Formats: sequence, C-alpha cells, structure tokens
Amino acid sequence: MTSIDSHDARALAESLRRVYDAVAQRVTEENATSPLAAKVTGHLGRPLGEVVVVEEKYRLFEHAALQLAADRYLSAHSPDAEWFGIVGSDVRWESLINLIASAMRAGSVLLGRPDYTVASIGPDATMDVIKLGMVCTHAPDGTPVVVGVSNREDYSKYALLTVIAADRAAATAVREEIDRHRNELDPLRGQVVSFGFSEHRENELLTFIPRADLTPEDVVLPDGRLEALEEHVVGIGRHADRLREAGQHLRRGLLLYGPPGTGKTHTVRYLLGRRPESTAILMTAEGMSKIDFAVALARRLQPSIVVIEDVDLIGEDRSQFETSPLLFALLDAMDGVAGDADVTFLLTTNRVETLEAALVQRPGRIDLAVEVPPPDGPARARLVRLYARNRPVEADVDKVVAATEGVTASFVKELLRRVVLTALRRDEHALTDDHFSTVLAQMSGDSESLTRALLGGGTAPQPRVKARLEPPSC
Ligand SMILES: Nc1ncnc2c1ncn2[C@@H]1O[C@H](COP(=O)(O)OP(=O)(O)O)[C@@H](O)[C@H]1O
Ligand SMILES: [Mg+2]
Repeated sequence: MTSIDSHDARALAESLRRVYDAVAQRVTEENATSPLAAKVTGHLGRPLGEVVVVEEKYRLFEHAALQLAADRYLSAHSPDAEWFGIVGSDVRWESLINLIASAMRAGSVLLGRPDYTVASIGPDATMDVIKLGMVCTHAPDGTPVVVGVSNREDYSKYALLTVIAADRAAATAVREEIDRHRNELDPLRGQVVSFGFSEHRENELLTFIPRADLTPEDVVLPDGRLEALEEHVVGIGRHADRLREAGQHLRRGLLLYGPPGTGKTHTVRYLLGRRPESTAILMTAEGMSKIDFAVALARRLQPSIVVIEDVDLIGEDRSQFETSPLLFALLDAMDGVAGDADVTFLLTTNRVETLEAALVQRPGRIDLAVEVPPPDGPARARLVRLYARNRPVEADVDKVVAATEGVTASFVKELLRRVVLTALRRDEHALTDDHFSTVLAQMSGDSESLTRALLGGGTAPQPRVKARLEPPSC
C-alpha cells in the first residue's frame, strides 16, 4: 500500500474542502430562500458568488460622519431608497457578505428593519446611526450597488462601510464618493474634542468639550503677553491665505511654561475660544500613543489646534541623556505637518528644563515660548477683583496683595472662594478686611500646608502667606 505523506494529505484535504464549498454554495444558491439574500442578489442581478465587495473601516468615533456621508450619497443617487436590516441579529458575522451568505444557509436570518445606535456629534448633541443596515442604490454610472453600514462596537474597533456591486470600479466609485462627503460633513470639524484612550474598549475615545468663552479680562497675565499669544494663534490664521501666497509657513508651535496654577490651561482655553472656527484636539497622556492619528485628524480638519498639556509628563520615562520615544514621536509628528498647514501646536509644561534639551536638539518645532509666571502685585490685585465677581470689595486690596506675595493665580482664586463663603455664612454681601484676614489665617495654618502647596502658596518653613492682615488703619 502506498503511504500518503502529510504534505499530500493536507493538499488533498484542501482540494476536497474547496470542492465541497463550491458544491455547497451552488446547492444553497439554487435553493436560496433567504429574502435577505434574494433582495441583494436581485438588485445586483448577480448570484452572490459573482459580486465584488469593497470595504472601508472607520474609527468608531467616525461613525456619525460616515452616516451623514452615506445619507448625502443616497439623497443624490436614490432619494427614495430605504435601509433594510435583519431580524435575529445574534448571528455571528465577520462581514456583510458573510452575513448574507449565512442567511442563505440558515433560514433563520430574516429580512427586517435596520438596527440603530447613537453617536455623539457635539458636547450636547447626538444622532442616530445605522448599527447594521443595507440599502439598494446605484453607482454614479448607474450600476446597481448595495451599500452597507455596520458598527462592530461589541467585537472590534470600527464602523464598516461595505459596497457590494457586480464590478469593482462601480463599488470603488461609490466608496470614494462617500468618503469625500465624510470629509466635508465631519461633525468633528470646528469642535473641541479630547482624545483619550479607553482601556475597556481598547478604543480611542473622543469626548466633545464645550468651547470656553473667556474674555481678555478673565486672564490675568503680565502686560502684552496675552496679546502676543493671541496674535500668534489667531492673527496668523486670519491672514492664512495671504501668508501662503507670500510663501510663509503657517504651522506654528507655542510653548507655555511656568509653575502649576499660574494659568497655562486657562490661557489655552481662552485661546481656543478666540478661534471658534478651528478644530481643537486636546491630547491626554493616555492618548499620546495615538499622536500620529490625532495630527492626521488636525491636518484634515484645518484650521486646527492640537493641545498637548503637561508635555513634560510624556518625557517622564527617559533616562538622563535620552529623550523619551513618545516625546520624539510628538516632535516628529509636529514636523510631519506641512508648513503651509494652518495647524497650531499648543504645548504646556510646568518643567521647562526637562524639555529644553529635546527641543534644542530638534529646533523649528516651537516658534514661540512664553512664560506664565506667578502673578506680581498688580496682577494679584486684578485677580482679587476678578474672582470677587459681583461682590463689592471693601477690603484694602493692597494689604491682600502684600499678604499674598509669591502665591499663584489659582491660590488667589481659592482665597476669594473662601472669602465669599465666609461672607455668605455671615450673611454679609461686601467682602471686608475681616473676611480676608480670617481666610488668610486659615490658609496659612499648619493643617492647611498641603492645600497651600497644592495651590502654589509656598510651603513651610517659610510660609509665603503672612498669617494675617494688619489691622485696618484708620
Ligand atoms: N493667570 C490667571 N488669570 C486668571 N485666572 C487664573 C490664572 N491662572 C489660574 N487661574 C485660575 O486658576 C485655575 C487653575 O489654573 P490653571 O490654568 O489650571 O493652571 P496651570 O495650567 O498653569 O497649572 C484656572 O482655571 C483659573 O480659574
Ligand atoms: Mg494646566
């Protein structure tokens, strides 16, 4: 008896499997009773074995844009078309064509209505999107096609566009037109979004954030500094077209540095509010591994601002002489944006020293570095009045200023919150010397040393906050 070696055995098994599949497919197609499959093959005018499938995967947060694009396509090419779906969606499937094929085998998958899910399109706005559905339409050249939209949120990380047609060119033309619409209609455009990372869903997570509307009076910085920043972020953008024509580059990088609590984040929020038409992408530390993707998004949705807060934190894991790979990835990504792109990188850091070497090694990324220092005397006086809000300040502001030497702006803000609370408790409206002395004594007490340190109010043994105000002079 001749023996079969394992290679031959595998080849034989493989051939038999193919023969079996072909026969099974022919038999099932001939006996096809699935209304789902019949609808698809009927529209395409071909048996399933002869159609072409073109797919495009999108991130889950791009699902809303995909839906808007598919709807725009349909309204142009077949305004009366209706989405259909399946009943019995517990069926396992890898792709829509796979689903249709299994519908033919197992009669249990019935033609039904599409399933919907909800996608965010703004801080307080959502829209219904198709979770699983198909629609019969036509390619721009009139060829019948079936378009499918599905969201495999439960299994994987993407929203899927499927185009099924008798020939590849038709399917591709449909996919391309939908993708063009998606770019135009993207609900992310002009929004502020935070780009994080969800461990649970192993999925980049995009959160929409309301755009702050701060006035220049809300941001207390040394004279001229806010204007310089605004000119760089907003002013350059205003002249984008003419600068491009003049061969000047638009891409810009700003670094705000200074101790915690001095208003770097506050300034960033102010700047975002001054460019309401721009798309802002806020990177979180967890999202940093996806910086390339975020930068690609910023490029696509220009004008845009990419914010990387506390950028020193992403440099943490470096040894003394080496820059962190993530920091390099960021610098590379910044460099990868063409000079004529209206993309602003806004970086903040509490520890500029740890960044300096990396930035000096790779010049050209940052074209404006601005210090955000603790407030000087006049600035503290402005902060006192700012955070008193609508309460009259009857206290001697000069004394408050003298007692708060060296503190940060966020310390002054917390001071005022407590002063207002003290006034409220006493049922008094105006803020008096007495309210201020009480609170300053409280905030400089030993039991508050951690709070004080956290607020940038200096620490023992040399508390920078004087224990109490001098008694009011007459
Ligand atoms: N320069 C400032 N002018 C006005 N308010 C400020 C300023 N700095 C800080 N604040 C207030 O303190 C809060 C915390 O400051 P933040 O901007 O987060 O500091 P940083 O980012 O520098 O650590 C801000 O939300 C703001 O309300
Ligand atoms: Mg900050």
